Amino acid sequence: MREILLPLPGWDESYRLLIGPGLRLNLGQLLVPLSLPRRLFLVSDRKVARLHAAPVVKALKAAGFAAELLSVPPGERSKTWAVAQRLARELLARGADRRTAFIALGGGVVGDLTGFLASIFMRGVPCVQVPTTLLAMVDAAIGGKTAINLPEGKNLLGTFYQPRLVVIDPEFLGTLPPAERRNGLAEVAKAGFIRDPELLQRLETGRGRLFKDREELTEIIYRAAAIKAQVVAADERESGLRRILNFGHTLGHALEQASRFKLPHGQAVAFGMLAALELSRRLAGLPADEARRGSRLIRDLGLARRPPALDPQAVLAALPMDKKRQGKDLVFVLLHRIGEPVIQEDTPLPLVAEVLGEVIIGGGG
Ligand SMILES: NC(=O)c1ccc[n+]([C@@H]2O[C@H](COP(=O)([O-])OP(=O)(O)OC[C@H]3O[C@@H](n4cnc5c(N)ncnc54)[C@H](O)[C@@H]3O)[C@@H](O)[C@H]2O)c1
Repeated sequence: MREILLPLPGWDESYRLLIGPGLRLNLGQLLVPLSLPRRLFLVSDRKVARLHAAPVVKALKAAGFAAELLSVPPGERSKTWAVAQRLARELLARGADRRTAFIALGGGVVGDLTGFLASIFMRGVPCVQVPTTLLAMVDAAIGGKTAINLPEGKNLLGTFYQPRLVVIDPEFLGTLPPAERRNGLAEVAKAGFIRDPELLQRLETGRGRLFKDREELTEIIYRAAAIKAQVVAADERESGLRRILNFGHTLGHALEQASRFKLPHGQAVAFGMLAALELSRRLAGLPADEARRGSRLIRDLGLARRPPALDPQAVLAALPMDKKRQGKDLVFVLLHRIGEPVIQEDTPLPLVAEVLGEVIIGGGG
């Protein structure tokens, strides 16, 4: 088992993130030292609940907890006020009060929704995150950001609310569909690009059999999760250092938006990273062989293979422009070397347009 300690901001305390195959079967025992209320509500989506809830509930009951399951429809459409309210009312109908705790069993959607509800239900009840997608294991479940969406946009209502424990069991990934695996792999690669060349090397050698080798998968999740943990621990509220987590995401978000969210998040980030590597070569001094190595890895992971059929103007229009600079320059996270990010405050829009045409929409690279 691997362990990462995360500080609780404002408190002289920390909470643990545990990673190990089979940990879900021991969840109840892992909760005992936390002095949680005996009554627990497990929140999941219906698909994850069907695949994975029974052994988790059994493990909780074996440790003396009363565990009840609540489920929501799978997918982004559950990150809404309506679903949060329905859950809260169902909790009340089942007699939940301040002396309860929530367990989020699922991907980033369930984690964000459950964390959000935990932060406001009865002015806050404890929450434990048990992520079941690779993306949630290395990203969404770490850092304490919670949110739901509004019709106006994603993640517009949310809180910072740290869980009491994060339990990561790589064995959940055995049932994760390939497209969802790729969403997570894009974030793992990102972690390597910004902070951990050895992680990239492990991805290069292990690709193709990553999900079959439990030990290697555990190590890769540990390394990627540790990077997110280090960055958010240093910068909980996203002022400075946390910006490096946006590597590949500036253009990635614009691509997602221009595709009206038809392009999967992982693919959008992968294309964003391809463009960021090329911009890094031109603006930040990234050696050409490192840029090539990065692009090759992204494609070898099954990412950014088919160029999206998008209108380049729509993509550029979706980029976050710096208004103070009259809309001419953009802030990008680039790499000086692999593992050495730099914040490029004045990336010229025409250069971004050129790279977008060459590397993404034109399908070259
Ligand atoms: N809070 C944060 O810091 C943060 C960071 C990144 C992303 N997010 C949020 O995370 C969400 C995306 O998370 P996601 O990619 O995990 O999506 P998700 O939660 O929708 O899960 C993707 C799909 O995989 C299924 N699934 C989950 N685990 C499974 C398993 N083990 N086996 C089979 N199927 C499984 C789910 O039912 C769902 O259909 C977005 O809403 C995003 O905004 C939050």
